[in-house]
Amino acid sequence: MNEITQQNAQRTAMLLMASIKSVGFYPQAHPAVRQPLRELIGILEGMLREKPEIHLGVVEGVFFLEGHLFVTPNSSVAELADRLTAKGVEALTVSSGVTDNDLFRFASLLSRRETTRATLADGLEQEGIRAIRLGIDQPVYGNGCDEEGSIPSRTYLDALNAVRDIIGEIEKGRIPCGKRINAVVDNMVSLSIKDHTTLLGLAMIKDYDNYTFNHSVNVGILALALAAELGMDREALRDTNTAGLLHDIGKTRIDKRILNKPAKLSSDEYEVMKQHAEKGAEIVSAMEDIHPRVADAVLGHHIKFNRSGYPEWARERKFDGMTEIVAVADCYDAITTLRSYSMPILPRAALDIMHRISGTALNGYLVEKFERMMGEYPVGTLVRLDNNEIALVVRPHPMENQAPAVKVVIDSRGNAVEKPRQLSLSAAGGTRYASIVATVDPLLKNVDLNSCMLN
Ligand SMILES: [Fe+2]
Ligand SMILES: [Fe+2]
Repeated sequence: MNEITQQNAQRTAMLLMASIKSVGFYPQAHPAVRQPLRELIGILEGMLREKPEIHLGVVEGVFFLEGHLFVTPNSSVAELADRLTAKGVEALTVSSGVTDNDLFRFASLLSRRETTRATLADGLEQEGIRAIRLGIDQPVYGNGCDEEGSIPSRTYLDALNAVRDIIGEIEKGRIPCGKRINAVVDNMVSLSIKDHTTLLGLAMIKDYDNYTFNHSVNVGILALALAAELGMDREALRDTNTAGLLHDIGKTRIDKRILNKPAKLSSDEYEVMKQHAEKGAEIVSAMEDIHPRVADAVLGHHIKFNRSGYPEWARERKFDGMTEIVAVADCYDAITTLRSYSMPILPRAALDIMHRISGTALNGYLVEKFERMMGEYPVGTLVRLDNNEIALVVRPHPMENQAPAVKVVIDSRGNAVEKPRQLSLSAAGGTRYASIVATVDPLLKNVDLNSCMLN
């Protein structure tokens, strides 16, 4: 029996809200507290028999629990959505083993006027509550990845390890040799020459715990793909890829307290953060076997198209075209990545944002090329097909914007597909597998995009 029904989802929200209200007035043993909690734990346990984790939260003001959305909520669901929003909680993960005691403590924390997202997170930690977490975890390497992995996946992991090693060297006070990164770059460039669109899916892999490595590799890939789209020669592809991989390397020389600060930086802290561009250029220019124009691109990756940005002293300097390519790639990866203080922006919306800042912050010609490369349904977009399946776009089609390569991740009956296989939506031989009818928010469908991209 399917326990994660719309009705159960609604009841969960109503009982949670009822608990939040009653814990403020009554002790845990009082029936007004005990009863809703007992019913709530019963429903959650039923849901958790179907899957190990349940996700709920608020997206664009709409409460959701797994795939169920409450666009016109009743008053108690609306009250819960408002409460979560007011506390800065976008999403919650409830996992197997949750107890009524956990729920009581969680409801108590949410009932307090002074509770914020940060104090809620601390409270859960201090109370030792493991089965209720803020946010939605997205593991990088999900189940179903075959042992060998495909060649692009292996190249991705090699690049990740190379960037990790290089950062490790710098943190030990050594200047790393360029050979390590060059070997990875050679492989990546070879792939891009064969077909640069195969790399795009890899750049959608997000690892929030290892943001710096992951962001560096993604920017390296996106910059390389854009350079290949522009028809640049092999040497230029190599240097662009290297510049993308190393663009933020200067952050290794920035105080970790500033680098990892979850809140907005003060103006003094921001001034320190800005130094990463020149510190990065210093490191890269000291590395053997790396072309000087790579150091130049690292220096200028925050100089905007209209010559604002930083370092201020370098605004009038003439930069190689690859600097602007890295800036476009950097912008796209940064806005499509979930940070602790904001929801991830979906690929299509990210391209719209970039479109708005093209000609001012970013080079308009490059943004246009980037948009064309990503396609109408950019890689990483989840779509509903007209046969009711849900699929992930993994590769654009060079000619047919409406017909990218996809992986079906949820079948027409709503069941997750265990080993999604790639198929083309183009009308090969006159027959079309299916057509796209809409885009879908991956958060609501709880699809592990990373796992799909790597397989
Ligand atoms: Fe940067
Ligand atoms: Fe960056």
